[in-house]
Amino acid sequence: LNPIKVGLLGFGVVGSGTWNVLTRNAEEIARRAGRQIEIVRIATRTTSKATAVVGNAVPVSDDMLSVVNDPNVEVVVELIGGTTLAKELVLKAIENGKHVVTANKALLAVHGNEIFKAASERQVTVAFEAAVAGGIPIIKAMREGLTANRIQWLAGIINGTTNFILTEMREKGLSFAEVLKKAQQLGYAEADPTFDVEGVDAAHKLTLLASIAFGIPVQFDKVYVEGISRLAPEDVVAAGRLGYRIKLLGLAIRRDSGIELRVHPCLVPNSKLIASVEGPMNAVVVKGDAVGETLYYGAGAGSEPTASAVVADLVDVTRLLTADPEHRVPPLAFQANALADYPILPI
Ligand code: HSE
Repeated sequence: LNPIKVGLLGFGVVGSGTWNVLTRNAEEIARRAGRQIEIVRIATRTTSKATAVVGNAVPVSDDMLSVVNDPNVEVVVELIGGTTLAKELVLKAIENGKHVVTANKALLAVHGNEIFKAASERQVTVAFEAAVAGGIPIIKAMREGLTANRIQWLAGIINGTTNFILTEMREKGLSFAEVLKKAQQLGYAEADPTFDVEGVDAAHKLTLLASIAFGIPVQFDKVYVEGISRLAPEDVVAAGRLGYRIKLLGLAIRRDSGIELRVHPCLVPNSKLIASVEGPMNAVVVKGDAVGETLYYGAGAGSEPTASAVVADLVDVTRLLTADPEHRVPPLAFQANALADYPILPI
């Protein structure tokens, strides 16, 4: 079989990580996917950085639209972030009949309904494992491993930057502004770090998790959001003295009358496993009616952990494209279910 041809948009922290993982583990990945996965085009704002890494192996340009319109490209990997150009490119890729893999939680939380609808009409996949909790395969866990369950609630530390800040505040007594700089240097923070500290990034991810857990449309505007910017080191230390850790949690809870979606700092007793999730790590607890509580833990941000999820989606798409059409499982795009009209409760 011919290699599957991928167009990569963006060569920043995650884009370069994706290149590294795909090239380093090419053999194993090809064996598992059933075909080689080949990046045939790269487009990025600053081409020099990409060229320095990939050399002459792949053409690098700053013309993103030409990648999306290239008939040779079968899958577009969108790693540029933001909701304006990224939206235009993703919709164009779908219109052109290409499958899309993205790590862009903001894009899907805000415009997901429109994007998933376009993908379903065109019969292409929009895969987004890397958009939530970095390298933790939480989307696949919920869609595949927990598919027999009625999900009752989920709770997660789904922003690495704020968890790193809270950890450093507790251990070193530093203010959040001081630690934020370090988180930015380490490549954890968003381009606009207020998205991290004000809980918006966690709310984007919660929106996507809830959509999968409950089969509801994405409804970012209905999430109650409160970040950590008003917390002082003393708050974190005082919580510790009382036997708690302060964690910024995303919570999606199914009630009789609707669904609660909220992001805010919580006091978590030290006795809970999730209390010991520190630094930039993420963890998500999902409670299903059959399985009970399950816990998923791992790196929620950073270059190769996030790339790990991007490549997993590429393998999924490759398998999908390779399967005999008669035996193809439906595309991974959002599938609504009976709770589609469930109200999101006001908090
Ligand atoms: N800024 C995000 C975080 C990156 O800190 O979790 C990963 O989505």
